[in-house]
Amino acid sequence: MRSHEYSSVNLNNLDQQIVCDTIVILLMDVPGKVGWPIVGDKSLEFYRDPLQFLNKNVNQARSSIFKTRFLNKPTVFVCSNQGVRDVLNCTGESLDFGYEAFMKGMFGHNILFSKNGEAELFRQFLSNLFTNHCLEEYESVIKCIITKHVGNLKSAGESICLYKFFKVLFSDVCLTLFLGLDSTENGEQARSVMSLTTDHWRGIVAVPLDLRLVNPSSTYSKALQAKSNLLEMINTHKKRAKSGFPLKMKETCDLDGSVVNNHLLLFTSALLPKVFASICTSVCAEIGKVETSHYQERARCEDIWLDYLLKETMRLCPPLLGGRRLATKSCVIAGYNVPQDYTLVYMTHPAQRDPGVFEDPHQFKPERWAQRPDLKDKLYVYGFGSRCCIGERLSSLILESTLRSLFNKYVVQVCADQDFSHKYLPVLRPKNSLLVHLEAV
Ligand code: HEM
Repeated sequence: MRSHEYSSVNLNNLDQQIVCDTIVILLMDVPGKVGWPIVGDKSLEFYRDPLQFLNKNVNQARSSIFKTRFLNKPTVFVCSNQGVRDVLNCTGESLDFGYEAFMKGMFGHNILFSKNGEAELFRQFLSNLFTNHCLEEYESVIKCIITKHVGNLKSAGESICLYKFFKVLFSDVCLTLFLGLDSTENGEQARSVMSLTTDHWRGIVAVPLDLRLVNPSSTYSKALQAKSNLLEMINTHKKRAKSGFPLKMKETCDLDGSVVNNHLLLFTSALLPKVFASICTSVCAEIGKVETSHYQERARCEDIWLDYLLKETMRLCPPLLGGRRLATKSCVIAGYNVPQDYTLVYMTHPAQRDPGVFEDPHQFKPERWAQRPDLKDKLYVYGFGSRCCIGERLSSLILESTLRSLFNKYVVQVCADQDFSHKYLPVLRPKNSLLVHLEAV
């Protein structure tokens, strides 16, 4: 079954409900039940199959916004496009980022755990690293690494697992760009850093399911050790840096040295390579089929088509299912009253398939972006509003350069009988290895 067909089956009821919700005008309590502490908790059900969990609850509550008990806290899940927009717009006023409890131990203080004035200050400093001038400078480094990896691919013969290929490529991009670590000159060091980022990542993933922080699991302890080793290594590289991102980071950011290091840890963690690999794998899965391969030719001929293909893929398969907030005051989300101290979980995946916003919401139709460029505002892959992603333009540069380089050299063909289903957490990826053949253009 194809990926969008799979989702279409799962989300039909959600579609109907989202349409109904748009008609409701009165301010109402969020439907659903928060249940009893611990015994009423629905976290495991969510982690087992997030889309099925959303579909079931939306159905039961007859609303695309519902409440339940999640991670043992009263939690509102928001699945409509307008609802997600309201959540992202309320951030800073009545909602705080809700990532501290899960990630602060693994990253130390950084922008993700800051609020109001401090968050604005961090954003100001960090935006200096993403100016046009900076992006031009990074572009040559990025293209060099991409050319090396794509050049090592072989056409004909064996099939390859694209997700693994992209993960190695993007780990190399991030470590070189953000740390100045050259894997060609110093392969051994690069491999040891990648192994540390893997241990560190296991700790990040372990936290939501392993909230026994009084007696942390061995995975968590190992991850803390990896974090400490990574920070030490980041500090050494930063001190030595004579060019690029790490130099700009220490020169332009008037921040405490340890806070600079924590941000470098955030950018060099395994999260970004996984997110980039997720997106590029999803693009190739969508346009690597016989019936969709003509899109590769279009992308080869017209650059704008790469942009359409990326947008449409990220709409259907956002790498991150959604995000979190904490209500510091009561607030109104899509006409529903959300009480103070509730957690909100906004769900990008169903919001970007909202039938009230996107025609044929489960269909892969990149041409929609030629006809309706204004729909870009309804995509939340990079967040929205005052706390949106500061790395969006850099990410587009990395993603477009990679796909351009791949499609200019090869036609990507998904092998026969592949499983197109996904795992959604912590980052969307194929459930089983998705194999492709490459044919030289
Ligand atoms: C395809 C790649 C990326 C995706 C999908 C992505 C996605 C996101 C999203 C959804 C948010 C908002 C989270 C929320 O509101 O709950 C965010 C925030 C952020 N992103 Fe990205 N991001 C990407 C790449 C990057 C890169 C390359 C950087 C920097 C090197 C970066 C730095 C940040 C930072 C610092 C924030 C926090 C902004 C704040 O707290 O005000 N991101 N990103």
